[in-house]
Amino acid sequence: MKNCMIKTNKLTKVYKLLAEEIYAVHDVDLEVAEGDFVAIMGPSGSGKTTLLDSLGCLTTITSGSLNILGKDVSKAKENTLVSMRRQSLGFVFQDFLLIPTLTAIENVQLPLLFARLPREARQAKELLESVGLGKRMNHLPKELSGGEKQRVAIARALITSPKILFADEPTGNLDTKNSNDIFSLLADLNKKENLTIILTTHNPKLGSQAARVIYLKDGRIVSREDSSLCV
Ligand SMILES: Nc1ncnc2c1ncn2[C@@H]1O[C@H](COP(=O)(O)OP(=O)(O)OP(=O)(O)O)[C@@H](O)[C@H]1O
Ligand SMILES: [Mg+2]
Repeated sequence: MKNCMIKTNKLTKVYKLLAEEIYAVHDVDLEVAEGDFVAIMGPSGSGKTTLLDSLGCLTTITSGSLNILGKDVSKAKENTLVSMRRQSLGFVFQDFLLIPTLTAIENVQLPLLFARLPREARQAKELLESVGLGKRMNHLPKELSGGEKQRVAIARALITSPKILFADEPTGNLDTKNSNDIFSLLADLNKKENLTIILTTHNPKLGSQAARVIYLKDGRIVSREDSSLCV
């Protein structure tokens, strides 16, 4: 049995818009073990981003339970979710979300500032080298290709040594070659560092390379889930 990184029970997220209630995530039971590589797939609007944001403590949940790294955050307030995110979770987004006025290495160092950790240049340099950007450290985002920007974003997500890496459509803005390269980089991190990764993707070819694929439809898991993977 592996360590449980995430465990949910009937996790539900409802968006309320005027008179309408949208069950974006509905009664999701999920276990993610240490070292898992999970791809969340499903049609547009099926709740992939909402599920990822819920698991990543980027949003509060409406009902059900959510346990992350042994901590019950089902009813946690924003400040608890913020410290969970800063200390233990890493994020990569489709739009890279780099700060345009900061160089690659400065972007990578930024989370250290928020986590109140010493801003050591060596660690950021090593991370950029490990994602193949040793020669691009002082480039601004506008001086980088899409694939390079996503590499910077991955290095930035890793600088605080997160226990779980979340990625929402990390290859959504990239061409086929760069998508494959970025996916391989994530797969390598999973294999070599035993990093737990949860991502969403529209790309069936990439998604099927993950160790586990979860299909969502109307906020519910429709694929068969392995039960009790972890303790
Ligand atoms: N902030 C919000 N307020 C209200 N409704 C929302 C909000 N965010 C998402 N929704 C709705 O929740 C449902 C799930 O949206 P979500 O973004 O999670 O889907 P998705 O599977 O990530 O879609 P896509 O593949 O297009 O990224 C959709 O019906 C969407 O319209
Ligand atoms: Mg989405």
